[in-house]
Amino acid sequence: MGKSGNRIQLADNLLALRKMKTESVELIYIDPPFNTGRKQNRPQLRTIRDENGDRTGFGGRRYRTERVTGEGAGAGYLDQFDDFLGFLRPRMVEAYRILTPTGSLFFHIDYREVHYCKVMLDEIFSTEGAMSGRDCFQNEIIWAYDYGARSKKKWPAKHDNILWYTKDPKRYTFHLDECDRIPYMAPGLVGAVKAARGKTPTDVWWHTIVSPTGKEKTGYATQKPLGVLERIVKVHTSPGETVLDFFAGSGTAGEAAAKNGRKFVLVDESAEAVKIMKRRLAAYLPKKS
Ligand SMILES: C[S@@+](CC[C@H](N)C(=O)[O-])C[C@H]1O[C@@H](n2cnc3c(N)ncnc32)[C@H](O)[C@@H]1O
Repeated sequence: MGKSGNRIQLADNLLALRKMKTESVELIYIDPPFNTGRKQNRPQLRTIRDENGDRTGFGGRRYRTERVTGEGAGAGYLDQFDDFLGFLRPRMVEAYRILTPTGSLFFHIDYREVHYCKVMLDEIFSTEGAMSGRDCFQNEIIWAYDYGARSKKKWPAKHDNILWYTKDPKRYTFHLDECDRIPYMAPGLVGAVKAARGKTPTDVWWHTIVSPTGKEKTGYATQKPLGVLERIVKVHTSPGETVLDFFAGSGTAGEAAAKNGRKFVLVDESAEAVKIMKRRLAAYLPKKS
């Protein structure tokens, strides 16, 4: 597999996305940060019903987005969500434009925000009168792990949510045969041949976090496991296709793509992240980068 086409970019992803070609990427995986304390640096936005607004929401209703100022600015929980969605929305609109007609989006998020993000994505994946974004939603994958402190006051939350959307509800890549197989829970019930082969996973994926002492660790705090990303890349793209991650961090999506003969485009605004990615993916980058 050639190295040309593989790219790591230090940039605010909105600017980077705006320069990317329409319908040029088969798979987008992102794992955006939430509530990182950068909220103060971004304008807070809220969405208001307005017949003359520049956005169309459910049922064709029009909305406008405005900056929160004065007393309301910075106060309360809802404003934080407005700010987060206000930050994400233009990036997701660009992501939708960049996806090929049979492309997939994987959106990795926390259980406290997933429902807000899902409503936003349903709306973005709705095309003018043609199809409902709800039909483009394919799965909510639960990545379950078991690590760290366990609450004694409620069930310990040990999962992330990964929303899978396809641009076309019916035409998309799904190479289930390429998926790694997992052990049966009761191998004695299925016979020796099946037990030895294992089964394909459901929408609940058990996978350990990146071990703080293992060789996969890059030192980037929010690094996601390569195993989770390889499963996504192998099942949802074909060799030679392109994987884009515009909240790339340590470049896990890039390594999953390159190891499996796919191209990668990785964007992050952090110089530290780019340094780590360039080291991690040096073998797959063209000379001049
Ligand atoms: C949760 S981390 C991603 C971790 C990644 N999935 C991995 O396995 O290492 C989110 C990343 O988004 C980046 N980020 C946040 N806002 C950004 C923006 N506007 N443009 C580009 N990158 C951004 C952060 O620098 C951070 O590296």
